[in-house]
Amino acid sequence: MLKFHYKYMNQNKKRILTGDTPSGRLHIGHYVGTLENRVKLQHEYDTFILLANVHAFANDYRKSEEINKNVYEVYLDNLAVGIDPEVSTIYLESGIPETLELYSYFMTMVTHARAIRNPSVKDEINYKKLDPSMGFICYPILQAADILGFNADLVPVGEDQLPVIEQTREIARDFNKAYGETFVIPSAKVGRVARLIGTDGKLKMSKSGQNAILLSDDEETLKKKIHACYTDPSRIHATDPGKVEENPIFEYHKAFNPNKDEVTDLENRYRLGKVGDKEVKEKLFVAMNNFLVPIREKRKFYEDRPEIAKEILIESTKRARKVVIEIVEKVREQMNINKLIK
Ligand code: TRP
Repeated sequence: MLKFHYKYMNQNKKRILTGDTPSGRLHIGHYVGTLENRVKLQHEYDTFILLANVHAFANDYRKSEEINKNVYEVYLDNLAVGIDPEVSTIYLESGIPETLELYSYFMTMVTHARAIRNPSVKDEINYKKLDPSMGFICYPILQAADILGFNADLVPVGEDQLPVIEQTREIARDFNKAYGETFVIPSAKVGRVARLIGTDGKLKMSKSGQNAILLSDDEETLKKKIHACYTDPSRIHATDPGKVEENPIFEYHKAFNPNKDEVTDLENRYRLGKVGDKEVKEKLFVAMNNFLVPIREKRKFYEDRPEIAKEILIESTKRARKVVIEIVEKVREQMNINKLIK
């Protein structure tokens, strides 16, 4: 069996901690929102990427089978876009039970009012009309434990997660104030497109929704999705002047078509009613497909070698756990929580 080697052990670099809740395969919005940053920064930072399966239980605790399936898909998505397992450490959240210990300490520090005020939590409850579990309301506190358990410096995330990182910073500050310097105060980093519009024209491409172009979509599926993509509804004929803003096909051109002259030319002609949706979509298909070809290939490499994929995940989770164990031990000492049994 092919052994994999981790190159960057014990380097004195700053740390990145980030990851995804495995509620479905990742899409092109994740790419520009956070994945691209991870891939770019993985050599500069000691990078840890979590597969947040405990977070997924907060959405629906009955779905263990489905969560496991999604964990694997999200894992492959990360490898497919260029997370190098010899450079970054990609791990399973539940493989580090010490994170959950940290979570329970942090739970005592956050008031109920503060927890339900978090806009990331509030917006999602409203948007999806949830009857939220306690785990859902408290997911930012678990996320704080994920991040602070590594003393991460930087957290690449999508824009919707900024209030969660703000809450993490508060917890770190409050803890440091109560028990002395323990945690690094982490910063968030949002990608070059903060929020990518959905194929249905809705404000946000969604993992659980039906309005996403997935990183794992094959050529046929991609073609169909682009063909069916919402454009400018007020434009009936190709000769009508069209709106480029908030028009998904142009947002995607801007984000993924490396030929900037082609994009500008299409935009200009669209505004003047001198190009049909068909041509814009055909050119978008070519650009998107070129972008996805190497991602599909890398995904297939690991799909065809499940034993290697599994070995990497086991070894990386062990390596990540060692880091957290050390930090949680320091937390216990700062709190002097085990004074009477030592
Ligand atoms: N809540 C994040 C999401 O849904 C996933 C996540 C869990 C995360 N723990 C994290 C992201 C820690 C960054 C850091 O996308």
